[in-house]
Amino acid sequence: MLLKDRVALVTGSANGMGRGIAHKFAEEGCDLIINDLSLDAAQKVADEIKSRGRRAIAVKADITNVAEIERMTEAAIREFGRIDILVNNAGGVPGTAGRGNSDNITAEEWDRVVDLNLKGPFLVTMSVLPHMKKNNYGKIIFVSSMGAVSPCVSVLHYHTAKAGILGLTINLAFELAPKNIYVNAIVPGPVDTTFWDALVPAGPEREALFDAISRKEVPLERIGRPDDIAGPALFLASGLSNYVTGQILYAAGGQPILAHGATFNIEAYLMGRAKK
Ligand SMILES: NC(=O)c1ccc[n+]([C@@H]2O[C@H](COP(=O)([O-])OP(=O)(O)OC[C@H]3O[C@@H](n4cnc5c(N)ncnc54)[C@H](O)[C@@H]3O)[C@@H](O)[C@H]2O)c1
Repeated sequence: MLLKDRVALVTGSANGMGRGIAHKFAEEGCDLIINDLSLDAAQKVADEIKSRGRRAIAVKADITNVAEIERMTEAAIREFGRIDILVNNAGGVPGTAGRGNSDNITAEEWDRVVDLNLKGPFLVTMSVLPHMKKNNYGKIIFVSSMGAVSPCVSVLHYHTAKAGILGLTINLAFELAPKNIYVNAIVPGPVDTTFWDALVPAGPEREALFDAISRKEVPLERIGRPDDIAGPALFLASGLSNYVTGQILYAAGGQPILAHGATFNIEAYLMGRAKK
């Protein structure tokens, strides 16, 4: 087992990639702190983990709220005594469908989306770090997005925040290497999760969009599944990556090999939808 008796906090792990990562870690002997905005949803995943024979607690906390983050860290330390692995997974684009380009972005939306996707992961990391420093050990994984480096739709706040995550990864890795704390980032391509609920309703329309993205954007010609991200996360969380820090790992079906945007204009697609 690659994570035998390790303890991991995975933010936003009631759904999607976070849930997939939590399950993969549990399979490898890890105990989990399952965090999300809904306690019921987090508890459901914590119960799934427990049914695999691992320990798990569910903690409701908004990663943009310092007091809630502090309570989450305290709950984790009370239950497990330490946090070995932090996956800064929570994020997304709620309320941004068809918005976020230079014609329609607002300062308020900028703050809201950057708070969730950049400041939130920063705040959670600052809360957990003292405990990792005390133990002289930690594995921190950030989750960025292909849009940070190769956008095929203009979403200024989200992509800027996700690019900021890469800067945060590299600087923290530099600072924390002497303390045996590893910091890396995963850059996912398109993955079939509830992330897309904010953009296109599930059903035939989303299937058609996924089909077009798969054929025109992704060299491996398919949309990712949460497990496709969980594998790379396991590598970065485990001893397999003990000479790897400050790295950016693309888990994006072969992207960014192709020139994006030129082939399929997702922005036009989403803007057209928003006008309907
Ligand atoms: N799905 C994709 O195609 C894709 C692509 C690139 C990057 N990402 C990024 O991957 C990460 C995981 O996304 P996903 O696809 O699993 O999405 P998802 O919506 O399925 O899961 C994200 C989870 O985070 C939770 N969350 C949202 N805001 C939160 C907050 N303030 N505090 C705590 N929890 C919060 C949500 O409730 C949800 O359970 C996100 O950072 C997302 O931006 C997703």
